[in-house]
Amino acid sequence: MSSHGRGHIALVGAGPGDPDLLTLRALARIRAADVILYDDLASGPVLEAARPDAELIAVGKRAGRPSHSQAEVTRQMIDHASAGKRVVRLKSGDPTLFGRADEEIAAARAAGIELEIVPGVTTATAAAAHVQVSLSKRVVARRVQMITGHDVDARLPDLDIAALADPEATTCVFMGKGTFAELVEKLIAHGMAADTPAAVIESLGTPATTVMRGTIAELAARLAAERPSGPCMILYGRALAEPAS
Ligand SMILES: C[S@@+](CC[C@H](N)C(=O)[O-])C[C@H]1O[C@@H](n2cnc3c(N)ncnc32)[C@H](O)[C@@H]1O
Repeated sequence: MSSHGRGHIALVGAGPGDPDLLTLRALARIRAADVILYDDLASGPVLEAARPDAELIAVGKRAGRPSHSQAEVTRQMIDHASAGKRVVRLKSGDPTLFGRADEEIAAARAAGIELEIVPGVTTATAAAAHVQVSLSKRVVARRVQMITGHDVDARLPDLDIAALADPEATTCVFMGKGTFAELVEKLIAHGMAADTPAAVIESLGTPATTVMRGTIAELAARLAAERPSGPCMILYGRALAEPAS
């Protein structure tokens, strides 16, 4: 159903997948939406909150599969809002992290459409919660950094390896399962201990969630050998050490 008056766009963080990790504001925007453009990783139970008459449009962009171009997604978002609809652009985790929100913000501004950003629980912190670690840790981890392991051409980006090999930092790697072995090789060459603890959390917020724990060297080898099919959040740094039992 179309709304009256001018359209509206909300970039909404869907969190890691469990509906009870949606914020109340995200839930309100999903319930009010005329149109929801959603990513693969923001599908599933969170969409059940949509009105029965809302138009749900999958605009998935999973690595290695044919996808809608960002330009096409942005065009649809603007077209629906220009037609007076309340549009929710639903993104996994937090919309401001590795989701190309900048391009959608710019397009909404250029079209003169009212825009709101609704933050979500990023998979980085949801993954930390799942394995019960604190990403920051007094004395041990004074810095927390979030990186993408995946460049526009699916390769390891040109990253600041010195910062990533910092033994006093915790690093959260998004989109990094395919390039982690190469990253770890560079980290070790830069002096990072091969036994730095790490965790890989796959398909968080779904019944298929799995966790691998080990050292960066072990998990690099396992990811290369096992090639998990689900989305993976990789966390590494001394804060990931498992408590002595
Ligand atoms: C395009 S980025 C979006 C990140 C998102 N905006 C966030 O804040 O979590 C997609 C990457 O986020 C991570 N991710 C998203 N959903 C996930 C999930 N349910 N389980 C594990 N990792 C996930 C993976 O690293 C995946 O490759």
